Amino acid sequence: MASNPAPTAEAAPIPRHVAIIMDGNGRWAKARRLPRLAGHKQGVEAVRRVSRAAREQGIEVLTLYAFSSENWRRPEEEVRDLMGLLRHFLRNELKDLVAENVRLRVIGDYRALSGDLVAMIDDAIERTASNSGAILVIALNYGAQAEIVAAARRLAAAAQAGEVAPEAIDETMFSDALTTHGLPPLDLLIRTSGEQRLSNFLLWQAAYAELLFVDTLWPDFDGEALADAIAQFGRRQRRFGGL
Ligand code: IPE
Ligand code: IPE
Ligand code: MG
Repeated sequence: MASNPAPTAEAAPIPRHVAIIMDGNGRWAKARRLPRLAGHKQGVEAVRRVSRAAREQGIEVLTLYAFSSENWRRPEEEVRDLMGLLRHFLRNELKDLVAENVRLRVIGDYRALSGDLVAMIDDAIERTASNSGAILVIALNYGAQAEIVAAARRLAAAAQAGEVAPEAIDETMFSDALTTHGLPPLDLLIRTSGEQRLSNFLLWQAAYAELLFVDTLWPDFDGEALADAIAQFGRRQRRFGGL
């Protein structure tokens, strides 16, 4: 008698777009009686590790919060250290991003950074623009409220110029005016280090994202922690307002 194949459990969904608020570098360093810079250095290692793991685990888009528009409030020396690490990262990672077919995107007002960094970022974006693999989005000098205001301004100017009717402005048009235009919807937003707040990150985009707050400090986050986050996402029931 022919038997039907044993029923297999449906594969848990993989989030297409994951964003991470990489928090806890300072506390990681403090716990080791090291300067905060040591924590940020390990944080960069975690970025390398986790972005690679995300690609291996089938995530299409990884968006990382690297520097917020409020992080300028930190001591000048720390800001300088963070910019130095960014410079280092771009210099070292670009060839790997190209080799691994990764497209780099930057959200946030990165043009306010120092001129050489702006040039490096533009170069990295350009040199990876035709890559067709995963997308790595880095949020630099990013603030969600400013992003939303900029979109509103752009649409208001278009309306004033008669290019768009105010009543034609809807959620789709608004999304398209944000810096994340064209990316798949945010599925999973992770924050490390135990803090449970969004700190002005992706406020619009997180409307229906699953939120996951983990105690792990960012420098300790790795591929296994990411796999665990994806597994937790797979067990969530998303309803989008329906049943
Ligand atoms: C995250 O770690 C890195 C940035 C915000 C640039 P923190 O520097 O915020 O680390 P904590 O929160 O002080 O531990
Ligand atoms: C959020 O972390 C910004 C980044 C991770 C880049 P913060 O450490 O700056 O957030 P708050 O100040 O604790 O809210
Ligand atoms: Mg912090």
